[in-house]
Amino acid sequence: MPAISSPPTSAMERSVPSAPPASPGALASTPTSIRDASEVLVLKDLRTFFFTYDGVVRAIDGVSFKIRRGETLGLVGETGCGKSVTAFSITRLIPDPPGRIIEGEIWYRGANLLWGLGREASYRVNPRTQQIKIRRRFRRIREANDRMAAVRGSGIGMIFQEPSQAMNPIFSVGDQVGESLLLHRGVEIIDSLLTTKPDAEGIRPAIDAIVAAHAAKTPGELRATTRRLGEIVGSPSIATQAYYLARGAEGGSAGDLATDIERSIRRLKLSGLERNYLAHRRRLMVLDRQRNQEYMAEMRAQATRGSTRAAIQRRRRTERYAHFYYGLWGFRSRVGRALKNEMFWRVVAHLEGVTIANPVQVARGYPHELSGGMLQRVMIAMALCSEPDLLIADEPTTALDVTIQAQILELMRDLKDRVGTAIMLITHDLAIIAEVADRVCVMYAGQIVETGPVRDIFSRPLHPYAQGLLASIPRLDQPDKELASIPGSVPNLIHPPDGCRFHPRCPYAMPICKEKRPPTTVEGPGHTVACFLYEGPVATD
Ligand SMILES: Nc1ncnc2c1ncn2[C@@H]1O[C@H](COP(=O)(O)OP(=O)(O)O)[C@@H](O)[C@H]1O
Ligand code: SF4
Ligand SMILES: [Mg+2]
Repeated sequence: MPAISSPPTSAMERSVPSAPPASPGALASTPTSIRDASEVLVLKDLRTFFFTYDGVVRAIDGVSFKIRRGETLGLVGETGCGKSVTAFSITRLIPDPPGRIIEGEIWYRGANLLWGLGREASYRVNPRTQQIKIRRRFRRIREANDRMAAVRGSGIGMIFQEPSQAMNPIFSVGDQVGESLLLHRGVEIIDSLLTTKPDAEGIRPAIDAIVAAHAAKTPGELRATTRRLGEIVGSPSIATQAYYLARGAEGGSAGDLATDIERSIRRLKLSGLERNYLAHRRRLMVLDRQRNQEYMAEMRAQATRGSTRAAIQRRRRTERYAHFYYGLWGFRSRVGRALKNEMFWRVVAHLEGVTIANPVQVARGYPHELSGGMLQRVMIAMALCSEPDLLIADEPTTALDVTIQAQILELMRDLKDRVGTAIMLITHDLAIIAEVADRVCVMYAGQIVETGPVRDIFSRPLHPYAQGLLASIPRLDQPDKELASIPGSVPNLIHPPDGCRFHPRCPYAMPICKEKRPPTTVEGPGHTVACFLYEGPVATD
């Protein structure tokens, strides 16, 4: 049980009493007003700290915001303001230790993702030395991690700044995207494999039509004919496979192409063992789905349910049996061949969807063989497998050059229009925000200082920090304006300034700014700001 203590400082004294929940389970009973169906994600008063040997880093300190269905919310702020920690807190991927969400609420699809947080750890302050001790309860943390795995699987996708870090270097791209696809669409994929018709009537003429389209070099016709074959066989992956066989068969004789397609179709005939194996995989996936639904129900009801335990036990029993049966060396690769092949061609179709020009090579390749832009596209394809209702993109284009940047942003915009996904776009680049966001949250030193519609923020920024950020970018409408930079830098979050955290850098700082944290006030429709210069009504949520 690690107890990370910090040196006694006066900052410490401040950091603790407001932070840890007063009693275990206190959070579970927190009343809440969040029940608006149009809201995909609601954060309320979130606090995430890192307990380091130098002291407690108050990375997120009272962050609240909402994302509505189909909306793009831009989160901006300088480096070190806590944008990534916010994203990782939502998905509960904060490295623990040293990090820990201390308190707050995260509502997603009617479930409080932080339900039970108060029971996961306790905090003690030594009254003499002011040292904090944190005691983690690992069994509870494990349970919470299991619950979060269910949530992540059910509709929150995430793309990172460095896609290569998010991928495993020893598995091929196809295997990794396939894994994600299987996780989200496994049951449907197996069902479609079990109902294919490799002996259906009309296959031969369909293949002849493909060969003719290929010989005539008409790509549009080739697409149409391969799709028709897919419909006859009852397998969309055969359509993709036939299309790429034809594309790869340049120079070969037409007879070869027909034979190759026939061979692929023959492979769809499953042996008894293969069917048995698929039925097993399907059962495991159905049990997974049941378990995830149970977890979500627990989080909605904010109560432990006996049925979750039963679902987990059922899953364990089935797993043990499947492991014994299919774990025999070499057996699994033989019985799983049909599924692997199906996954590969489905992944190729997915990669096509994110405008990758040579999806077969990319799927066969390994992460290190791809460029940053290509990898970012693969990450997007992976995040899209679950058709998420929320996509969190943490600086998705920062590591890319400008032309690729535009393509990735276009892809995200298309996704929003097509699937209705809500996007939380994190960036320090205001130009990107202006281009794609509907609403903006400006973040400074672990707090949200201003929120509003993108037009309002750009035409009428209120908070001196937001004004400073905007003054530091070139504008086409004011070509003669000199660019200004904000003096100073983001404070050390172990000892953040008292009162308004921006006061050491603020040109308008007043005496009160050094003493009290400014309340968040409403200054227009959907426009709120936390600064003593404004005196609108205090925001209620
Ligand atoms: N693992 C960690 N240990 C200690 N402090 C951390 C850790 N991760 C992030 N922080 C701190 O949290 C603050 C916010 O970081 P981050 O969210 O990464 O900023 P950004 O806005 O650039 O994404 C920084 O002060 C950083 O030092
Ligand atoms: S509260 Fe005071 S210090 Fe903070 S931004 Fe407003 S004027 Fe500046
Ligand atoms: Mg970051």
